Amino acid sequence: MLDVASLKVRYGAVEAVRGLDLAVGKGEIVAVLGANGAGKSSTLAAISGLTPCSGEITFEGKSLKGLSPEAITRAGIGLVPEGRRIFAGLTVSENLLLGGAVHAAPVELRQRAAEMQDRFPILAERRHQKAGLMSGGEQQMLAIARALMARPKLLLMDEPSLGLAPQVVEAVFDLIASLRGEGITILLVEQNVPMSLDIADHALVLAQGRLSVCGTTEEVSRSEAVRGAYLGLSA
Ligand SMILES: Nc1ncnc2c1ncn2[C@@H]1O[C@H](COP(=O)(O)OP(=O)(O)O)[C@@H](O)[C@H]1O
Ligand SMILES: [Mg+2]
Repeated sequence: MLDVASLKVRYGAVEAVRGLDLAVGKGEIVAVLGANGAGKSSTLAAISGLTPCSGEITFEGKSLKGLSPEAITRAGIGLVPEGRRIFAGLTVSENLLLGGAVHAAPVELRQRAAEMQDRFPILAERRHQKAGLMSGGEQQMLAIARALMARPKLLLMDEPSLGLAPQVVEAVFDLIASLRGEGITILLVEQNVPMSLDIADHALVLAQGRLSVCGTTEEVSRSEAVRGAYLGLSA
């Protein structure tokens, strides 16, 4: 469904991504792991059209080259950004409506926002409140619901469980599993390595902008690098 070949992202003198290949099959969850600064967010930003890059990115057989972020959203790729990036000063409903704005007419948007509020009761309860007043976990649910407003076929999720309490982390992973059950393909950047390996089909580890390990989650779980650095297990 998504094919990335020889992807490079650079910020001035910093080479954040240095020639990355990755593929995501329809219906899969692919986990992207790696230390801070490895180039994970830059990879998602490049796929979303939010940062200039070189290389080839193909989605459902079509090149994304030169498309604006809005056109990429319309093509069916959604992003749940790192740090949630909700609009704190806007209400929960306004945040939801903005998520579908590039995509649908106002009547359709209201219908979709109502569906999101059925799915996430907390968002219904808080719909008239400023989004910035919600807890971290609630804001994460809003960030996910906002991305779902555009009905993505592929959802890019950047560290959705970061900084959340263990129970909320469980809820986020349960939600990811149910989204996959509904046919949404997911590229998941995560710090929670055990839970990501548990839920994903394939995984890759980035180190300094390059692929260090990749394969099925079973293969990646067995790799020395992942056992040592991320799972705290010795070989
Ligand atoms: N906007 C930016 N300007 C300059 N350097 C950046 C920018 N964003 C990221 N970087 C640098 O690019 C590298 C990769 O960052 P990032 O993709 O955010 O990694 P990760 O998400 O894996 O932590 C890091 O060295 C980071 O400091
Ligand atoms: Mg990041």
